[in-house]
Amino acid sequence: MELLNQIILDETKRQNNGLELIASENFTSAEVRRLCGSSPTNKYAEGFPGHRYYGGCENIDKIEQLAIDLACQLFGAQFANVQPHCGSAANMIAYAALLNLGDTILSLGLDEGGHLTHGSSVSFSGKQYHFVHYHLGADGRIDYEGMAKMAAETKPRLILAGFSSYPYEIDFKHISEIAKANGAYFMVDMAHIAGLIATGYHPSPIPYADVVTSTTHKTLRGPRGGIILTNSPELAKKINSACFPGIQGGPLENIIAAKVQCFYEALQPSFKQYIKAVVANTKACADEFAKLGCAVSGTDTHLFMVNTKKSFGMTGVDAQHKVEEIGITFNKNMVPGDTEKPSVTSGVRIGMAATTTRGLTEAQARETAWIIYDYLGNHVSREVASARVQKIVATLKDIDKL
Ligand SMILES: Cc1ncc(COP(=O)(O)O)c(C=O)c1O
Repeated sequence: MELLNQIILDETKRQNNGLELIASENFTSAEVRRLCGSSPTNKYAEGFPGHRYYGGCENIDKIEQLAIDLACQLFGAQFANVQPHCGSAANMIAYAALLNLGDTILSLGLDEGGHLTHGSSVSFSGKQYHFVHYHLGADGRIDYEGMAKMAAETKPRLILAGFSSYPYEIDFKHISEIAKANGAYFMVDMAHIAGLIATGYHPSPIPYADVVTSTTHKTLRGPRGGIILTNSPELAKKINSACFPGIQGGPLENIIAAKVQCFYEALQPSFKQYIKAVVANTKACADEFAKLGCAVSGTDTHLFMVNTKKSFGMTGVDAQHKVEEIGITFNKNMVPGDTEKPSVTSGVRIGMAATTTRGLTEAQARETAWIIYDYLGNHVSREVASARVQKIVATLKDIDKL
């Protein structure tokens, strides 16, 4: 369809012509994208390898088993379910496998870095389960002591860690001890940091958590989708039946084929080099903001937060819109102690996973901080800032050639 093709060309052009700093995004390889559109999209395969409700699944079984085996190899887990359509579905399935409706979950709230599915009242999670929240300390890091106190007081069935906008290393061992002391399951949602965990740039939750969920499309750089991992045979069974027939129907086997490619790519030495560069670029960019006197978080990962209200006297949403004028995309984000609504916020979240895939250097990561600082601070015109963005973009790889 001509109109649609034109829109897709426009979107490809937009992605090629800008600096993508949204921390949850990435650019997949051409092979991942080819597999997303491959023939398994035509096939129904309700069930799991070797146990399907349809005939003709002999090739599909091989694809899904490859995905399971590579996911287990990549993360050092014993069981994997690769069928969740997205990260939210993975969390819904994991809760359904472990809990009864109305059970108490101890998590970090949306306003401090958790995801919608970690108990927000507008998500299924907040409607179906009883959430209580632990908090960040004044330094922006998890208050583990406060978490232990809350666990003792509220006796949750499950403690959840792993976040959408938390820039520091998470002490999974410590949280698992708190969960054990209180008879709670420990679940980790590693959606954001899966690529770092796969390459050893963040400690793994697998030895400590009962269940680990993830997306495959953020730092892991695969197709949009979810996975669930566990080392417990008993929980693996519960997860599979909560997935199908509990919540989902036919799996997206074309996307599962692309997940195979994603796990294969993540097992290559070049992916480790890539994540190393992501972490270095993120540190360089955050460091430059700090040198410029901005209110910026630290970072051990692929993302950091800038308090735009304190740094530029501007809300997060206004900063987000303003940088779009010069070809930069990042998103508004609540910062610790935020008094603005989630649709406004006092800050932004900046991530380096996507631009690093296109070859951004550390010097360019620093220049990116300067461009944002100069433009949000009204030190340069839109034309000058745009030209500086385009100077960087001209050196980056074309997204169709990755
Ligand atoms: C920590 C975390 N979990 C789950 C999700 C949900 O993933 P999806 O958008 O694929 O449903 C996200 C998405 O941003 C996330 O940040």
